[in-house]
Amino acid sequence: MVETRELRRFPCYVSPMSDSIKGTNLTWHASEVSAERRREVHGHGGAVLWLTGLSGSGKSTLAHRVERLLLERGVFAYVLDGDNVRHRLNRDLTFSAEDRSENIRRVSEVAKLFQDSGAVVITAFISPYRADRAQARETVGDAFFEVHLDVDVDTCEVRDPKGLYKKARAGEIKNFTGISAPYEAPESPEIKVRTGEEPVEASAAKVLAMLEDRGVIAAG
Ligand code: ADX
Repeated sequence: MVETRELRRFPCYVSPMSDSIKGTNLTWHASEVSAERRREVHGHGGAVLWLTGLSGSGKSTLAHRVERLLLERGVFAYVLDGDNVRHRLNRDLTFSAEDRSENIRRVSEVAKLFQDSGAVVITAFISPYRADRAQARETVGDAFFEVHLDVDVDTCEVRDPKGLYKKARAGEIKNFTGISAPYEAPESPEIKVRTGEEPVEASAAKVLAMLEDRGVIAAG
């Protein structure tokens, strides 16, 4: 049985937005399980690896490789991918600046829940606005690690894995990031990877080393 004292010491997930809740008669139920206990059970900490970069910079490829490597090391890891999440949870959102903000807001809340459960979440969203990423960092807290896929637009356009740059240049896609909508590069990400110049294995190794350095996972 967990002591009430311990519950107070380890509030697992506390809503930061209690002042803007529209519903009434709501009661917050604290977990009986501390973050430390979850860490003991999983054998590692929870974290959010927030990948950001242009379309075609390799976010999904890197995210899925990191996920696989973590799982092979016994780490509970899971990818939240922009294209996938927009098929279901965020199917109502467009690519306007407002909807992109809402996309990132919802995803950061989902990522926070996963992180709180003890998972290492890897998010792969363009997340082009600094303010939205700052909000995501605030939502997640200390376990937020921004990973910038630093690949310039020319390289992404040459790669054009989905043929979207071609469509954007032809005017068939409006508000396309890097062409007709902005991308605000991170100023101080926890880690920067040059996926345009190095193989995915090299970028993934850097991300795993960072998680080891930060004490999220044990040295492999
Ligand atoms: S974000 O800007 O809101 O973070 P998100 O990562 O969810 O974007 O989705 C980006 C993906 O949607 C791209 O990889 C691409 O496949 C697709 N896409 C469709 N329209 C656009 C657009 N106007 N700008 C950028 N990506 C788009």
